[in-house]
Amino acid sequence: MCRLELTEITKIYGTKKKAKQAVQSLTAGFEHGVYGLLGENGAGKTTLMRMIVGILKPTQGQITCDGIPIRQLGGTYRNLLGYLPQDFGYYKEFSAMRFLNYMAALKALDPDIAKNRIEELMETVGLTEARNRKLKTFSGGMLRRIGIAQALLNEPKILILDEPTAGLDPKERVRFRNIISALGKDRIVILSTHIVSDVEYIADQIMIMKHGVFVRTGTQAQILEPVAGCVWKCVVPEQTAARLNAAYAVSNLRNCADYGQESGVGAPQVELRIVSRDKPHPGAVAVDPVLEDAYLYYYL
Ligand SMILES: Nc1ncnc2c1ncn2[C@@H]1O[C@H](COP(=O)(O)OP(=O)(O)OP(=O)(O)O)[C@@H](O)[C@H]1O
Ligand SMILES: [Mg+2]
Repeated sequence: MCRLELTEITKIYGTKKKAKQAVQSLTAGFEHGVYGLLGENGAGKTTLMRMIVGILKPTQGQITCDGIPIRQLGGTYRNLLGYLPQDFGYYKEFSAMRFLNYMAALKALDPDIAKNRIEELMETVGLTEARNRKLKTFSGGMLRRIGIAQALLNEPKILILDEPTAGLDPKERVRFRNIISALGKDRIVILSTHIVSDVEYIADQIMIMKHGVFVRTGTQAQILEPVAGCVWKCVVPEQTAARLNAAYAVSNLRNCADYGQESGVGAPQVELRIVSRDKPHPGAVAVDPVLEDAYLYYYL
């Protein structure tokens, strides 16, 4: 097992006039477990991950593995890594088997070890039956799964998955969550997503990222703590709902089948779930927050 440490990492793209600070002075430590990196488009997730895997050099700051700068560790560090890039490219004409064999050769795995490992991995990601099919015939979800398999070839101690669930259907999401949960037992798994439910059940630590910084990190309970008393439910007529929806962060909105009595005969009612520090409506009642509410709260 290893410990990964980021110390005041900053990444600035471009030069003075067009400079873009994508990651700002981030400090974090990672030991074994699943870390869910949650953030909207452009928050800096990919930039951070590319620095962790060593493709991108931080403008400032240091990344160490067991106390040694990763630049200094070179190949030793790369052997510890498994990486699924967000824009994972693949060889359309290759079969799944051929692709994994090719990736194993690139990672300089012993061919005999690779053979067993590939069979095991095909089973893990549920692609054994599709092993001889060309990748160009694969669905988006199958491609993500083969991407996860290639990241696992060298039994990495640090697994970095950038939006691994993009394009997965609900059944595949469940399968994916189970795979990741098991992997986090004895390694560092960092996965990025903007889909809260992907990390809700499996992440030991959640890191909410916004404009290049962590706005909150911790266990799910720690993330939820400041949000207690800031989530409200109310049932209101359609017009009021539209007004509240425009004025507040609404985490859920549901048209009710039962019609209200007091606000005119047959006026349709809407149930709103609102994230707000103040009570948004006289009839609103406080409810327990869930991670989805917390995500909205930190983005208020
Ligand atoms: N090569 C680059 N040159 C200049 N700016 C960049 C470059 N790559 C990313 N950026 C900018 O840096 C910021 C962070 O981008 P990044 O891709 O890290 O975000 P992200 O959280 O991964 O977003 P997404 O959810 O869309 O993948 C964005 O404003 C983006 O436009
Ligand atoms: Mg990204």
